[in-house]
Amino acid sequence: MFKEYFQYKGISFPRLIYSEQGLREVENKFQVRDDDVFNVTYQKSGTVWMLEILSLIHSNGDPSRCRTVPNWDRGPWYETVLGLQTARSNQPPRLISSHLPIQLFAKSFFQSKAKVLYTVRNPKDVFVSLYHFAQIFRPYKEPGQLDQFLEQFLEGDVPFGSWFDHVKGWMGLRGHENFFWISYEELQQDLRGSVERICRFLGKQLDAQAMDGVVENASFQAMKQNKMSNFSLAPRFLLDQTHSSFLRKGIAGDWKNQLTTAQSENFDRVYREQMQGLELSFPWDELSPQPSPPPTPGPRGSPLCPPPPIQLRMPTGHITSPPQSRRPRPLPPPRPRGCRRPSGPGCRSRSC
Ligand code: A3P
Repeated sequence: MFKEYFQYKGISFPRLIYSEQGLREVENKFQVRDDDVFNVTYQKSGTVWMLEILSLIHSNGDPSRCRTVPNWDRGPWYETVLGLQTARSNQPPRLISSHLPIQLFAKSFFQSKAKVLYTVRNPKDVFVSLYHFAQIFRPYKEPGQLDQFLEQFLEGDVPFGSWFDHVKGWMGLRGHENFFWISYEELQQDLRGSVERICRFLGKQLDAQAMDGVVENASFQAMKQNKMSNFSLAPRFLLDQTHSSFLRKGIAGDWKNQLTTAQSENFDRVYREQMQGLELSFPWDELSPQPSPPPTPGPRGSPLCPPPPIQLRMPTGHITSPPQSRRPRPLPPPRPRGCRRPSGPGCRSRSC
């Protein structure tokens, strides 16, 4: 059971903390509430950081709850066996974390007014962080040599599948009023400004003192010292932090210390192939592909068609979202893995 994976709809999950039944429940039966807030990421993109920020915003910058309740109870990962129970029993308004790709997300979300905050991170740093994490997180297989693990990562042969598919899938919601995305790098560059944007999306107003409380207590150092946020309370059989920490370096660009030039160039090549057609730039711009003509059909020459669009009900009188969300559009459907349909129209840049 330790280090054993199973496949659910083409995606790998470690058996120790996930089950097929739990994933089916989440997808088909979990009742999303209109006041739920979802903290969604591809793993190692800053999930617990955003969880801390959202917890602190909720408590107006007061760190008491963050210092007394473990983060996995404040914002449970609802796709895990235990997290699902916690998410169901937590009092509203609920904060729920998830690494699920969009096609496995709770269907009831698409009929709700619940909000999703999606955090993305330079995939090279995600990879490096995951490489170290896989060595200390017992449910995961040993990553082996970095080169070999890089191939697996680029193929999507890791838990939660391909980073590229995950990001393309969730970014299909950009422009929708209930969807907000931000990058780890933006959080790094301007945490206060980022928190302000998050607050606007949530419809929450913080005074200067509350804002100070969020920014101070969500810092890397504060989280590293907080046993409710640094996973020191996690059982050893799940997470062994003897040789590395969950909160490892907390910087952007560590990939430069870890990848060879050849590995980095290989990464860039796959990135360009996979991300072509996504009309968007990320802060790790040197990786961003040039805008391209409409993509060719899928691998076998047949267009990969997603299921019919799921319509997300538009809340009325909704709080004004940041520029990216000014023009609400119907929710595009989750795309199947490997789908190469072009993304819908949208801004290319965060600043437009
Ligand atoms: P590193 O391994 O590069 O240090 P996730 O929560 O999605 O698993 O992501 C974990 C990554 O986010 C780790 O990256 C961790 O150090 C980083 N992280 C967590 N909290 C952070 C914070 N307050 N500031 C900066 N980085 C943080």
